[in-house]
Amino acid sequence: ADALKIGVAGLGTVGASLVRIIRERQEKLEISCGRAIEVTAVSARDRTRDRGVDLSGMTWFDDPLDMARNADIDVFVELIGGAGEPARGAVTAALERGLHVVTANKALLARNGVALAALAEEKGVLLNFEAAVAGGIPVIKALRESLTGNTISRIYGIMNGTCNYILTRMEKEKLSFQDCLTEAQRLGYAEADPSFDIEGNDTAHKLAILTSLAFGCQISCDDIYMEGISNITQEDIVAAAELGYRIKLLGVAQRTEGGVEQRVHPTMVPHDTVIAQVDGVTNAVALESDILGDLLMVGPGAGGDATASAVLGDIADIAKSQPGVQTVPALGRPAKTLEPYKRAR
Ligand code: HSE
Repeated sequence: ADALKIGVAGLGTVGASLVRIIRERQEKLEISCGRAIEVTAVSARDRTRDRGVDLSGMTWFDDPLDMARNADIDVFVELIGGAGEPARGAVTAALERGLHVVTANKALLARNGVALAALAEEKGVLLNFEAAVAGGIPVIKALRESLTGNTISRIYGIMNGTCNYILTRMEKEKLSFQDCLTEAQRLGYAEADPSFDIEGNDTAHKLAILTSLAFGCQISCDDIYMEGISNITQEDIVAAAELGYRIKLLGVAQRTEGGVEQRVHPTMVPHDTVIAQVDGVTNAVALESDILGDLLMVGPGAGGDATASAVLGDIADIAKSQPGVQTVPALGRPAKTLEPYKRAR
C-alpha cells in the first residue's frame, strides 16, 4: 500500500515529539501498519524556532487552514489546542475535504465535538482523539471498542497531570504551589494558559468528552460543577494527611435517575486506595460498568512523548483501516511479521 501522508498542525511539545518519533521508528511503524507513515507537511507560526527535530523534506505552512485545504496529505493531525480559531476552522476544513483527522484538543472537542463527529460521519472519514483525554491512557478505545454493550454507571478519575503533579510535590516535598506550577510548565505538562489546569477547566473538558462516550449523550461542558486547586494550601494537605486522606482533583460523572451528574473538584481520597497513590503527572480513570464490572486505568497523563504515543496509535488505526491492508491484525500486527518467541532466562 502507499505511504499514509500526515500533516501535523502545531509543533509544540506534543507535535515535536510526534514528528521525531515517526522519523525514528519508520521501519517499526511500516511493519505494524502494513504501510509507511510519512509526515509530509507541518504548520506552525514560528519557522525559526529550534524544536530539536529534523523537518527537512516537509512542506511548511504558516497557516493550518491553508494546510488543511491544500497540503498533499491523507490525515490532518491537529495539535494546536484551543476551542476556537485556528484549530476549529482547520479541523472543519480538513473534514470537509474528506481527510481523516486526529486531534489531542480536548477544549475543541468539549465545545464542538458533536458537530465535528457528525461532519466526519457525513464525509465517511475517521475522527480520532485518544490523546485528548488522560494522555496516554487508552480510555477512548476502552469506551468506543472494549466496553461495547456495557451500560456504564460511573466514570471518574484524575485527568489533569499538572494538578496532580502540583498536589504531589506540595505534599511530598513541601514546595510552594507556584514553584510546582512553574516546574510543570517547564516540563511541558501545563496548558498554554495554566489557569485552565488549576481552575479545573481542563479536567472539565476531558470529563465532558468521557461523559458523552460513556452515556451516549451530547457533550455538555457548561453543565459541570467546577472547582480547581488554586485555593488548596499546604495546611489543607497536612490536615487531610492526618485524617488518612490525600487531596486529589477528581472529575466525576455518573448516571442518576434524574439524568447525568458531572463535577470537578478537589476530593479527599482515603490514602489506602489506588487513586490516592497515583502520584505526579500520572492520571487514573475508573469506570463502573455492568458486564465487565470495575475497570481502573493508570498511566501518563501529559507530556510530549506520552501524548504523542496516543496520537500515533490513532494514526496507526487509520493506516490499518485502509483498503488492501489487513484491517485488524489479531495480534497487533500481521501474523507473518511476528518475531520468534524468545524465552527469558
Ligand atoms: N495540561 C494537561 C494536563 C495536558 O496537565 O493534564 C494534558 O491534557
